[in-house]
Amino acid sequence: MNLKETICKNLPGGQQVLESIKARRLEGNNFRLERNRTTEITNRIHPGSLNLIISEIIEVTNEAKTFRLVSKDGYLPPFQAGQYLNIFAEIEGVRTSRPISISSSPRQRAYYDITIARITTGFVSDFFLDKVKVGDEFEASEPAGNFYHNPVFHGDEVVFLAGGSGVTPFASMIREVLSAGIKRQIHLLYGVKTEDAAFFKEEFELLAKSHKNFVFTLVVSEPTESYTGRAGFISADTIKEVVGDLDNKMFYICGPQVMYGFCGSELDKLKVAARRIRHEMFCGRQDIQNEPGWPEGLSPDQVFDVKIIGGLTIKARAGENLLIALERHNIRVNVCCRSGECSLCRIQLVSGKVFSPKGVLLRHADEKYGYIHSCKAFPISNVEIML
Ligand code: FES
Repeated sequence: MNLKETICKNLPGGQQVLESIKARRLEGNNFRLERNRTTEITNRIHPGSLNLIISEIIEVTNEAKTFRLVSKDGYLPPFQAGQYLNIFAEIEGVRTSRPISISSSPRQRAYYDITIARITTGFVSDFFLDKVKVGDEFEASEPAGNFYHNPVFHGDEVVFLAGGSGVTPFASMIREVLSAGIKRQIHLLYGVKTEDAAFFKEEFELLAKSHKNFVFTLVVSEPTESYTGRAGFISADTIKEVVGDLDNKMFYICGPQVMYGFCGSELDKLKVAARRIRHEMFCGRQDIQNEPGWPEGLSPDQVFDVKIIGGLTIKARAGENLLIALERHNIRVNVCCRSGECSLCRIQLVSGKVFSPKGVLLRHADEKYGYIHSCKAFPISNVEIML
């Protein structure tokens, strides 16, 4: 196998591409001359968007369900455990989308599982839990995101710190590692409010019993009297006690926004270097006015004019990002992560001011020429934008 083939083999779906090339060579085809077939194969791995059908709905807790998605076109592209799909839905006449982690293992691609929990102000989660049924169809992005384990850079010992529905990308990683017999040591510390709100608890307990390389610790913040497990939060003491030696371990955090600040400072107390901590991006806070740097005294309910150059002028609340304001008026913007990471929702700010929370990954050139990520830009004056 030459170097090009070795690299290709290690890419997601690369083995299939190599097998396709081999089969076509055997048929007598000159692969290099068949550029259209190369495109066809590339498109299988990166189809851009997917047409999915709900094939099954599985109850996970009283307020969470797993939706099993199969392909309408007969093919699901490969993904890395930890990645997400951006699922589009039309709800009450408004087309919107949400990035949702895949919770099934990438070792099988007959279906993707996504698990959704109800959130207080989540009209998308209410829609999925109350209205969606088997047979419904959805458009989705191809699998995307950078929250996955890379054994070359991240080593073989990982600690997952999960909160609530933030356990779903870890479920995919755990299912992959344990089903494939990969030699990776995993600690999962899973924080939930009450014991019955935990996703996949029985499955994790069984896996921990049957696999020496997987340790599962549930941490309940508001336990009932009958609960006998570990109570409280995922504190420095708990991490140290459960994990032991912290050297050379890679830490992953996924959960509600408040957890990042808390677990971040607990890991700081344990002197875990920032380069050994990774976190999922798309868990933005609802109360943007409490984000550091928010203009003092500005109410999130204050309404501003958003003038679209060459188009309408719409109204937007300061506490609502421009992407949502545009979607509410059925104005489409390209979108994927909704967390300021992928740059797809870029628009140009022609005049006025927006607030963007810390951590939004804006390219230097975008910043220089006035581009903003609409999913993380909150109007704090009347603004003019160019789509
Ligand atoms: S949708 Fe990815 S940066 Fe806005």
